[in-house]
Amino acid sequence: MAKRILFVCLGNICRSPLAEGLFRHKATERGLAGEFEIDSAGTGAWHAGELPDKRMRRVAADRGVSLDDIRARRVELTDIFEFDHVFAMDRSNLADLRSFDVPDYVRGRIVLFRDFDPDPSHPDVPDPYYGGERGFQEVFDIVARTCDELVNRLA
Ligand code: 4NP
Repeated sequence: MAKRILFVCLGNICRSPLAEGLFRHKATERGLAGEFEIDSAGTGAWHAGELPDKRMRRVAADRGVSLDDIRARRVELTDIFEFDHVFAMDRSNLADLRSFDVPDYVRGRIVLFRDFDPDPSHPDVPDPYYGGERGFQEVFDIVARTCDELVNRLA
């Protein structure tokens, strides 16, 4: 059975849709797409139904990764039951997800994304939303190398 993987950030328009797109891209490149069901969501609903942020889409597209089929949605309690692994993009997202009233065996599926970063300079994927172009490039580099590691571990 396919492993179900969910990435969660605040708005679901920058970091977590990038992680969804990059993980899918890397799994597909390696012929492993059928092993995974991949999705993303946000702890906030402000951008529900929207495409990822155009700055994030452009940085990803420049490096061969399309985010054009992704639409933002809010994370729901049922997600935590239905996904095998839930990756929080920063510690604030992690705390929000862990505040869901779920049994411990389910809460244990919720982990911090950068715990799997092979070059972890900081626990959080920085929120690029209010910053400039460089922030989006930095987020891409962090998420790309961490998704490589995750595909290796989960395949
Ligand atoms: P994300 O970035 O959590 O990586 O999608 C953000 C997007 C939107 C907002 C904050 C962060 N916002 O406040 O609308």
